[in-house]
Amino acid sequence: MSTPTVDVNQNGNVKTEDTLCTLAEFEECDFSKLLEKPPRILNMERQRSLDERSLSDLSIGISPRLSARATDINTSRIFEPLDFICSPVGRRSGFNTPRSQTGFEPHPMVAEAWDALRRSLVYFRGQPVGTIAALDNSEEKLNYDQVFVRDFVPSGLAFLMNGEPEIVKNFILKTLRLQSWEKKIDRFQLGEGVMPASFKVLHDPVRNNETLMADFGESAIGRVAPVDSGFWWIILLRAYTKSTGDTSLAELPECQKGMRLILSLCLSEGFDTFPTLLCADGCCMIDRRMGVYGYPIEIQALFFMALRCALLLLKQDDEGKEFIERIVKRLHALSFHMRSYFWLDLKQLNDIYRYKTEEYSHTALNKFNVMPDSLPEWIFDFMPVRGGYFIGNVSPARMDFRWFCLGNCIAILSSLATPEQSTAIMDLIESRWEELVGEMPLKVCYPAIENHEWRITTGCDPKNTRWSYHNGGSWPVLLWLLTAACVKTGRPQIARRALEIAETRLLKDNWPEYYDGKLGRYIGKQSRKVQTWSIAGYLVAKMLLEDPSHLGMIALEEDKQMKPLLRRSNSWTL
Ligand code: GLC
Repeated sequence: MSTPTVDVNQNGNVKTEDTLCTLAEFEECDFSKLLEKPPRILNMERQRSLDERSLSDLSIGISPRLSARATDINTSRIFEPLDFICSPVGRRSGFNTPRSQTGFEPHPMVAEAWDALRRSLVYFRGQPVGTIAALDNSEEKLNYDQVFVRDFVPSGLAFLMNGEPEIVKNFILKTLRLQSWEKKIDRFQLGEGVMPASFKVLHDPVRNNETLMADFGESAIGRVAPVDSGFWWIILLRAYTKSTGDTSLAELPECQKGMRLILSLCLSEGFDTFPTLLCADGCCMIDRRMGVYGYPIEIQALFFMALRCALLLLKQDDEGKEFIERIVKRLHALSFHMRSYFWLDLKQLNDIYRYKTEEYSHTALNKFNVMPDSLPEWIFDFMPVRGGYFIGNVSPARMDFRWFCLGNCIAILSSLATPEQSTAIMDLIESRWEELVGEMPLKVCYPAIENHEWRITTGCDPKNTRWSYHNGGSWPVLLWLLTAACVKTGRPQIARRALEIAETRLLKDNWPEYYDGKLGRYIGKQSRKVQTWSIAGYLVAKMLLEDPSHLGMIALEEDKQMKPLLRRSNSWTL
């Protein structure tokens, strides 16, 4: 069959053409085999509309004739792999919760986890609007009594997977209202689109009233605005839409506007020579100074995923169309940049080791003038013969070779990583199991920095000493991301192994926020207990393994249109 496609050449010019879409392409990645479950086709009709809009379906500049044909072609695309794993409305996961309906015998921890998750619910004027970061009363609260946008994502996914979408809808709408607040730090006004890091419900017993209070970074340690919040918000909106089939939420004019405001912030033009997003230290999950300033992989991967989700959710009205066009161009440039310059495997490492420096002009191989002497000792042992990963950061004369879990898992889920790269990331996790999983999944980054480097990089941060917290600590919440990546790459046994390890301790230790030590053996020095995203992360991981069809709400299939571009590139080695 012939499909109209939108292609963007390396200069970013959009053009349309007819290409052949063969059966072989559909067979390229056989999800039904990988996911060990027969495909369900039942609910496909309703789900289709959302997932159909790939780069190739867009009617930017497509003639009415082609647009009309695109609709027909959409129908033929229902057999794309991720459509097999769409999640019907109100599906239950059979866990031992008040909603449980099947006879499935879950791990005893699951019921405990659901109870704890429900206890963490935060209500605003009678409606659940989020989950508190931690229910630990033994420690100073700081801001752990707030609903964090990033922390809510695994909670939201758990509720969606359990057929309880209302809370996610409430959360989306409440945070959207917060976005429209005027945001100021001292006398400086933040961009309109910034989403809060967290919010809190304030009760006024005198007036018997409730109000919301949000933090956009103006109260946060370090006063950094969360770049990730807006991206997570878009990703969660797409998960909600995909899992419920209810497109009306995303179609609300205020949701469309909210998305456009977020996109305006990250698609604005400036002095950038790279398509990646320049960030301050501490603007994401790692919300303290940890040397992640510049172009951190976590933000780049979330940026890519949020752009792809926005592409599916934006309406093709006058305002939407303009953004769609900008997104398409940015996605092409971003995937090219990330796949070429952030990717590290044995061959690439060896190339950098032998780099010439001080090369001038566009023929330079060592484009960022990286000094081979800046390669850290540990990387030579860490890099397995088979495997690879996206490194932490790339900027002029600076490559941060550390492994960061969240960014790599999101790269797999969003298909920023090619299928080959995704497999390589999983290979690396398997070969470096002791280092990355050890006795408690999962290292937020590897390795830890210590001594002089720790002093310079963290500014002598006593919370981020070596192998603790953000500096090589082990975070159970990352289990859901690992599991989703495992399911997407057809390696569920890796996730099972990690979960078994977690199950020996998580409940006994009362759901710590993080663990310390090279192997993650010790409950973190200042770790909160009853940390909600540790609980929700565990539940999401369990539900994904029990029913891999849930993957559809948090994963995006590779866009075939990106491939040929990359194959043309000289620097592409895979
Ligand atoms: C810590 C984490 C941050 C998280 C917050 C609430 O500050 O670094 O990622 O959102 O706690 O759990």
